[in-house]
Amino acid sequence: MKINEEQLNHLLNQMTLDEKIAQCIQLAPNFYEGSKEKGDVTGPMAKLGISEELVQNSGSLIGATGAKEMIRIQETYLKNNRLKIPLLFMADIVHGCKTIFPIPLAIGCSWDLELAEKSAEIAALEASVSGIHVTFAPMVDLVRDPRWGRVMESTGEDPYLNSKFAKAFVRGFQGSDLEEDPYRVAACVKHFAGYGAVEGGREYNTVDMSERQLREYYLPAYKAAIDEGAQMLMSSFNTVNGIPATGNRKLLRDLLRDEWGFEGVVISDWGSVMELIPHGVAADEADAAYKAISAGIDIEMMSSAYVKNLSSLVENKMVDEALIDEAVLRILRLKSKLGLFEHPYRGADEELEKRIMMSEYYRHVSHELAVKSIVLLQNKNGILPLQKGKKIAIIGPFAKSHDLLGPWSWLGSKEDAISLYDGLKEKAGAHSLLYAEGCGIDTGTEEQLKDAIKITNKADIILLALGESSEMSGEAASRADIRLPQVQMDLMKLLKRADKPMIAVLFNGRPLDLRDVVEVTNAILEAWFPGTEGGAAIADLLFGDKNPSAKLSMSFPYSVGQIPVYYNHFRTGRPQNALPKVEKYVSKYLDIPNDPLFPFGFGLSYTTFSYGNARLSDQTMNVGTSLTISVDVTNDGEVPGEEIVQLYIQDVVGEVVRPVKELKDFKKVLLYPGETKSISFTITEEKLRYHHSDLQYKSDHGAFIAYIGPNSRDVQALSFQLIQ
Ligand code: BGC
Repeated sequence: MKINEEQLNHLLNQMTLDEKIAQCIQLAPNFYEGSKEKGDVTGPMAKLGISEELVQNSGSLIGATGAKEMIRIQETYLKNNRLKIPLLFMADIVHGCKTIFPIPLAIGCSWDLELAEKSAEIAALEASVSGIHVTFAPMVDLVRDPRWGRVMESTGEDPYLNSKFAKAFVRGFQGSDLEEDPYRVAACVKHFAGYGAVEGGREYNTVDMSERQLREYYLPAYKAAIDEGAQMLMSSFNTVNGIPATGNRKLLRDLLRDEWGFEGVVISDWGSVMELIPHGVAADEADAAYKAISAGIDIEMMSSAYVKNLSSLVENKMVDEALIDEAVLRILRLKSKLGLFEHPYRGADEELEKRIMMSEYYRHVSHELAVKSIVLLQNKNGILPLQKGKKIAIIGPFAKSHDLLGPWSWLGSKEDAISLYDGLKEKAGAHSLLYAEGCGIDTGTEEQLKDAIKITNKADIILLALGESSEMSGEAASRADIRLPQVQMDLMKLLKRADKPMIAVLFNGRPLDLRDVVEVTNAILEAWFPGTEGGAAIADLLFGDKNPSAKLSMSFPYSVGQIPVYYNHFRTGRPQNALPKVEKYVSKYLDIPNDPLFPFGFGLSYTTFSYGNARLSDQTMNVGTSLTISVDVTNDGEVPGEEIVQLYIQDVVGEVVRPVKELKDFKKVLLYPGETKSISFTITEEKLRYHHSDLQYKSDHGAFIAYIGPNSRDVQALSFQLIQ
């Protein structure tokens, strides 16, 4: 039973100031009586110097593992807590709990919102039976810089696609009623704001951009998650226009609360309240606490500025107690929404935990999503799919590796992941496989190379399994050189000498510079970190039991020197291709092309789709009417396939410079060989709006171009006008 607003206020009135402040801290399990780790408060957490009493009253906990531990902690906690306010259990359930799904960047490439939602629903179920109430997801930071390791947590570079996924994930995690459904978890959207734009792709670095840029591209996905009902939001580590997000009143109060009307709980990122000191905007811990609470941080994660300073700040009249009341009320409200006052153990259930984790159906969904997330980047002469009966030399550090879950899969076990070798063995039999490791991720020996060469001589096809280890992306894993590690490139080039068809299957958390791989190999399958069912899903695709349909949700740069490279860039005064011949004084590089190696929206299939001439229902529209753009898409090949048809629009003349094109809609369609379907999109005035120089969000009358096609590059164009 939810306790109503009046009861919540009554509860708040009974709380001492210290009890209120304690609600605003989040600690790890080892602080709690009943935790298996209790007593081991060494390391950074020991520095928090927190009293037993405070622990007994603290509001939430991060990262407990399993129903048993959760129940034990909650039980002891409630015994000791004067007002019997239950603890809130939070954790990072990012792309699966026990059953691990592909990393979010891969899910982005599926363009499959339904399956994405399903994956979040399953993650929520597995998480809630293990006692988790809130997940620190979805991460919706827009990303344009593949050097940043955390691009793997995002669905990519486009605000429209990211917003669609943000909503799908929130729906999947939360369902329609958190109180009624104990097998859902509250979603905490992160990292607010603009974390994806850290300078130079270097982790925890500065973000400085115009407010127009922020609103137009970086903010929409957070807003979408909030509109979908996300209950919490996490502030980011970075500065936003000079002020760290965690102490940024303009961001957290003026925008988030006043303008967007967000009523949920705001939590800092790990230690980011204290980080206001090294950022150089707070003189000491008290100042950091003052800045964070004033800016609107309700819960301080894993640092102790609040508990050590808020009460004296209130006594000294630096902080109005009403500010703390507001924060506490929001936290209590969330506990009530989750039904915790009535059911403090909520979904936690040891029996269920044993029974449902990694059930066949969950693995099936993970498998499906992996199939739909893996991008076929190259397939020279239709070398893929593989024919059964050929001898395959499978070589590379990922051939037998179980490191397929990717970062942010802390409750998943690598041993549960199906390796590529096992997936292929299941499909084609061990007799058709020859295996050699070839090299490690970034080290190799002569012996390994010799073994690899030996087996290529006996094989018909070389299948390379290459990539980054999961530690090479995710948090605190920026890379300046985004090629495959040198030793793997050397292996690839050496084996090329065997002059046999060569296929690369890649495992990685970010777009890589693949120039050499493109040149040397015949086919490239970008598998990302595909999750628990990885090897089986890849085998399905390699042998053509499934047809690749994924399309990139983030551009693959030609080289690191192009970064940031993204499809919806602004037009310049000297565009390269507007001029008839190669010109010097145009916007270009002397040594590399402007275009990425693989553009946004790109991905191949084992069939071919042809696009007929696109048609517009009219040449003009006005604010109250709409236009329809249609195109006939035909499957010209031999096998059924799914195509993702994409609609982009360019505003020809804007009040401010407008991008070359922007994704406005897409449709995923299944076509059988020879089948044609007419795909239509509706263009409304709403789709033509943008933030003007005065930040007003509105459209301009005048000319537009609609682009329709299979990716952001290969499009056909149709002009129309928005008139009065
Ligand atoms: C990360 C967050 C995460 C938090 C809690 C931080 O270091 O930036 O994304 O939710 O830790 O694990």
